[in-house]
Amino acid sequence: MLDLSELHPSLSDPALTSMNLLNEVADRYPGAISFAPGRPYAGFFSVEDVHRYLRVYVDHIGPRVARDRLFQYGRTKGVIQDLIARNLAADEGITADPESIVVTVGCQEALFLLMRTLRADERDVLLATTPMYVGVTGAARLTDLPVVPVESGRTGIDLDDFAAKIDKCRRDGLRPRACYLVPDFANPTGLSLDLETRLALLDLAAEQDVLLLEDNPYGLFGPRMPTLRSLDRHGVVVYLGSYSKTAMPGARVGFVAAGQPVRGGGTLADELAKVKSMISVNTPPVAQAVIAGKLLENDFDLRAANRAETELYGRNLRLLLDGLARRFPPPSRVTWNRPGGGFFAVLSVPFTADDEVLAHSAREHGVIWTPMHHFYGGQGGHRQIRLACSLLTPDQIDAGLDRLAALISEWEQRGEQ
Ligand SMILES: Cc1ncc(COP(=O)(O)O)c(C=O)c1O
Repeated sequence: MLDLSELHPSLSDPALTSMNLLNEVADRYPGAISFAPGRPYAGFFSVEDVHRYLRVYVDHIGPRVARDRLFQYGRTKGVIQDLIARNLAADEGITADPESIVVTVGCQEALFLLMRTLRADERDVLLATTPMYVGVTGAARLTDLPVVPVESGRTGIDLDDFAAKIDKCRRDGLRPRACYLVPDFANPTGLSLDLETRLALLDLAAEQDVLLLEDNPYGLFGPRMPTLRSLDRHGVVVYLGSYSKTAMPGARVGFVAAGQPVRGGGTLADELAKVKSMISVNTPPVAQAVIAGKLLENDFDLRAANRAETELYGRNLRLLLDGLARRFPPPSRVTWNRPGGGFFAVLSVPFTADDEVLAHSAREHGVIWTPMHHFYGGQGGHRQIRLACSLLTPDQIDAGLDRLAALISEWEQRGEQ
């Protein structure tokens, strides 16, 4: 009989079960309106697109190369880095050598590769803005890399706290290797760094010799600042990309651009590729080909290709924020932030909004949301919930907010302080 206590310690960590737990709630109450998943809107999906993208890519490389490339094992770094580099130039103003790019099985694999690579021994730690995407917490646990939280503050990162945490780590004999953050419309907060903060952060990271891991799955969905990577004069930014929100999560294609030289080795990308060669060997070329077809068909401009999606997400966010304002006029103990784009907003409520309240909400009120404590590793956010609106119709947002208001009113009447 296997014993959980004798398996890798991460398997006993709530971080590794939080995604499943949230999916289970949704499965158990299929009639509930869900503000939980940060998934792309499904109304624009068309199976024919997948066939067409594949054909576009095959036409691009020619049938002889295509036969080998689609059927065979591929290069570990990937087969479409040249096209990704053109996409980065078009959408993000980023100049990246294709050889500095590793195509990964979603951005999630890129996170894992980075953490595995940066964790040399027990002195190494990762800084990350808190609250943070659960995939980061999970990958860090799997790679035995402690995460030191940095306050998000009002604009996505509190620079004083960033400097203070680096200082404290060093005084404790630890090595802060990198700081993970989502500078644009972050998951879960919806926050975005202003330009001044971006420039100051880059200088500070260079001064402190700490890499910045810039994760940018939502940046195209709203008006925003230049990416950290496009502003980086010091070479401190490792850029993580995902095609899950701008193309399709089903392809599971993401990438990492890491051209930083490694003394005694190749580039950081070369080292990441070594790790990848022992995990997934290579990202499925068929999946890369589908994404490549979408890039080629849209002249590498996914911002333009996602115009309808961006409009829909913007409209949904406005409906969500306006709907909250109507239901909780001042003075209310319910407050929320007002992101300028992306999929998420955060609501603060005057009671503990934990997994039990979520189950009650789904069962009795037919509405699902994400307790924010999952994004704080259980260390905070107990009175906050994340609302995602990317997957919903206007009617669902309206009805869902009515249900949420009923839940909040029930809890307020119970008088929990
Ligand atoms: C901030 C953030 N990073 C990474 C990911 C994972 O992306 P992928 O589907 O490319 O693995 C997500 C997915 O929701 C996310 O929100």
